[in-house]
Amino acid sequence: MKENSLKNKIIFITGATSGIGKETALGLAKLGATIVFTARDNSRGKKIKNELIEATSNKNIDMIFCDLASFESIRKACKEFKSNYDSLHVLINNAGIWDFKRRISKDGIENTFATNYLAPFLITNLFLDILKKSKPSRIINVTSGMHYGTINFKDIEFKKKFSGAKAYRQSKLGLILFSRFLANKLKETGVTVNCVQPGMNKTNLGRDAGGFSRFIFKLIGKDPEIGAKISIYLASSPEVENITGEYFTNKGIKKSSKESYNMDLAKRLWDISNKYVKLKLLFL
Ligand SMILES: NC(=O)c1ccc[n+]([C@@H]2O[C@H](COP(=O)([O-])OP(=O)(O)OC[C@H]3O[C@@H](n4cnc5c(N)ncnc54)[C@H](OP(=O)(O)O)[C@@H]3O)[C@@H](O)[C@H]2O)c1
Repeated sequence: MKENSLKNKIIFITGATSGIGKETALGLAKLGATIVFTARDNSRGKKIKNELIEATSNKNIDMIFCDLASFESIRKACKEFKSNYDSLHVLINNAGIWDFKRRISKDGIENTFATNYLAPFLITNLFLDILKKSKPSRIINVTSGMHYGTINFKDIEFKKKFSGAKAYRQSKLGLILFSRFLANKLKETGVTVNCVQPGMNKTNLGRDAGGFSRFIFKLIGKDPEIGAKISIYLASSPEVENITGEYFTNKGIKKSSKESYNMDLAKRLWDISNKYVKLKLLFL
């Protein structure tokens, strides 16, 4: 896999305080990029920022506070980024959760849907102008092999019966549908949109699982630097500069579930998402 130097490239990545996101930020900082990452805890964010600078000798690493389970916090973070930077070459929607109990976000929305799906939807749309201005630019959405199933339009927030696995799978399918739909809309703009599937990694994703399941989560995965490789490749390689609307694993472009190619489903989800985040999307 060929990677480019990323000197003069600005990358925004969510959730670099742990796991795959932290390793992705590290790898991209080593390639010389300016890294702006989000953290939902300022003191941990500052600690990670110092760690990344020390490990890479790249001083162009910045942290912005953002709680992805809050639309207000997302809007604030995107505004802060735009007031400090003129360009954005790569957006990596990496952060994600797997809640084993039903929780709600600051906006009163089921937390998995809000954090894993609506947050990337909103961030991406808020950054479309700066991404277009900075072309060629790339959007990378971190999804999962566990995206099988469908979108539960009758009860998208699992209010009647909650299953953490179903909510997680739906959020990741939603992200793939969003990516393909957006990739289509952005053809000829110089902005690409792709999904990555990092494989099973030992991270904090299973923190909510409790006891034995949490232990299993930590036991069977690969180290997160392996999972980060595919995001680093998509962010840096000249080989993928013109590829858009695809689903990548560390073995290259792969087919995702049949449902994830259904653009009627994608449009329906897009319209619902738009109502949740209350954006006026001019280009549609
Ligand atoms: N690990 C796997 O096997 C696997 C497999 C397939 C896909 N993935 C995907 O890979 C991505 C990275 O996950 P990971 O495995 O590296 O898990 P992780 O170690 O738990 O990292 C998740 C990151 O997201 C951040 N985050 C979660 N909720 C947030 C919120 N409300 N506001 C701000 N940041 C928030 C976390 O911040 P804190 O540090 O503050 O918690 C952390 O930085 C996720 O999208 C996940 O679904 C993982």
